[in-house]
Amino acid sequence: MQIRTASMNDLDAIAMVEAECFPSAEAATKEEFKERLRYYSDHFLLMFAKERLVSFVDGFVTDEKDLTDEMYSCAELHNEQGEWQMIFGVNTVPSYRNKGLAGNLITRFILDAKEQGRKGVVLTCKDGLVDYYSKFGFKNEGVSDKSNHGGVKWNQMRLTF
Ligand SMILES: CC(C)(COP(=O)(O)OP(=O)(O)OC[C@H]1O[C@@H](n2cnc3c(N)ncnc32)[C@H](O)[C@@H]1OP(=O)(O)O)[C@@H](O)C(=O)NCCC(=O)NCCS
Repeated sequence: MQIRTASMNDLDAIAMVEAECFPSAEAATKEEFKERLRYYSDHFLLMFAKERLVSFVDGFVTDEKDLTDEMYSCAELHNEQGEWQMIFGVNTVPSYRNKGLAGNLITRFILDAKEQGRKGVVLTCKDGLVDYYSKFGFKNEGVSDKSNHGGVKWNQMRLTF
């Protein structure tokens, strides 16, 4: 398994993995990923198995404390000097799940944010994944009033360094 940050060359593979992992109402589009890669490709961590992208995590950096729906589609809001590392997506293709791949990437993503001097990492997730993210040290702050994309109830979770 190889881990590296992204470049625009990874756009097709990233969009394909996203479409495999999320229902269309929740999935980021290829156009959105193009913008994200333009502004913060260094804040994507990709994992490859024999050249194939099988898992990734991404998110931008901001001084805003809370994750909002606007952030998903407005990549230009990325602030490289920001205090909080957001996580917008965690994906592993179905055939590679439950092998610790996402866990590995999340751990490395957290470590990178710490080394960069951020205050912490913020994400939103559905009820079923609250226990999973708690294992990495994220604390559940309850249902977000700033994110409801896909018509879903999202819990905001924060890991403060
Ligand atoms: C969630 C996801 C990224 C996990 O990837 P992975 O590489 O299998 O992750 P890991 O192997 O590190 O960990 C798997 C854990 O996630 C749990 N999990 C995965 N999907 C879950 C779900 N929908 N509800 C509850 N738990 C889930 C597994 O039970 C397992 O738990 P364990 O560590 O207690 O055994 C992957 O299942 C996925 O891409 N799902 C679809 C997209 C998604 O929901 N992403 C999360 C957005 S917040």
